[in-house]
Amino acid sequence: MNRPLIAPSILSANFSKLGEAVSAIQDAGADWVHIDVMDGIFVPNLTFGPKMVSDLRPYTSLPFDVHLMIEKPDQLIPAFAEAGADYITFHLEAVVHAHRTIQMIRSLGKKPGVSIVPSTPVSMLKELLPYVDQVLIMTVNPGFGGQSLIETCLDKIRELVAMRNDQQLPFLISADGGINEQTAAITRKAGADILITGSAFFSAQEKKKMVQSLRKF
Ligand code: DX5
Ligand code: ZN
Repeated sequence: MNRPLIAPSILSANFSKLGEAVSAIQDAGADWVHIDVMDGIFVPNLTFGPKMVSDLRPYTSLPFDVHLMIEKPDQLIPAFAEAGADYITFHLEAVVHAHRTIQMIRSLGKKPGVSIVPSTPVSMLKELLPYVDQVLIMTVNPGFGGQSLIETCLDKIRELVAMRNDQQLPFLISADGGINEQTAAITRKAGADILITGSAFFSAQEKKKMVQSLRKF
C-alpha cells in the first residue's frame, strides 16, 4: 500500500469526552477510529462494551475498528456488530475455534480480523490468513496505552508480508502499540498497512499535523 491508514485509538482519550474524541479523530483527517475493548480477564484492564460503540456511532462516519481483547469473543460479537462496528478483530489466544469466529463476523456483514500478542508466532495464523480482512500485530503487550514498541514484533510483520505474498492474499496488516512519529518509519518499513496510535495522537497538540506526519512514512 502506498500510503498507510491511520487509526487513532480512543483508549488514550479522556473517557468523559469520548464523543469529542471521535470527532477530533475525524477532524484530524485520520482514516479509522480504533476502539480497544478490554474485559479485565484476557488483559489486565477494562474499557468499553457495545453500548459505547452505539453511542459513539453518530459522532463520525469513519469506520469503527473494534479490537476485542476479551475472552469468549463469540458471546459479544453480535452485539458489537449491531452497535455499529465495521471491522471486528479478536485474539487468536482467546479462542479455540478461530475459524468459526471469523465465519460469525463475516455472517454478520462485518470485516473479520485476527490479532496476536507479542509472544505468539505468526506461523500460528497460517490456516486463517485466507479468511480475514485484517491481521493485527500487537507491538506491545495488550492492556495499556503509552508503552514502548517491542522492536522484535516488527520481524513478525516482515514474516507476515512474506506469507501474504506467497499466498497472494489481500488482508491488511496493522501494527498496534507504541506507534508515534519516531517509530512509524520502522513500522512502515516492516510492512504495516495500518498504523494504530493512541497516546501519541491524543497527546499531540496539532492532531492534523500528527496524522499527516504519520502518513509520510
Ligand atoms: C493496547 C491497545 C492499543 C493502544 C495503543 O492494548 O490495543 O490500541 O491503545 O496505544 P499506544 O499508541 O499509546 O501504544
Ligand atoms: Zn488496539
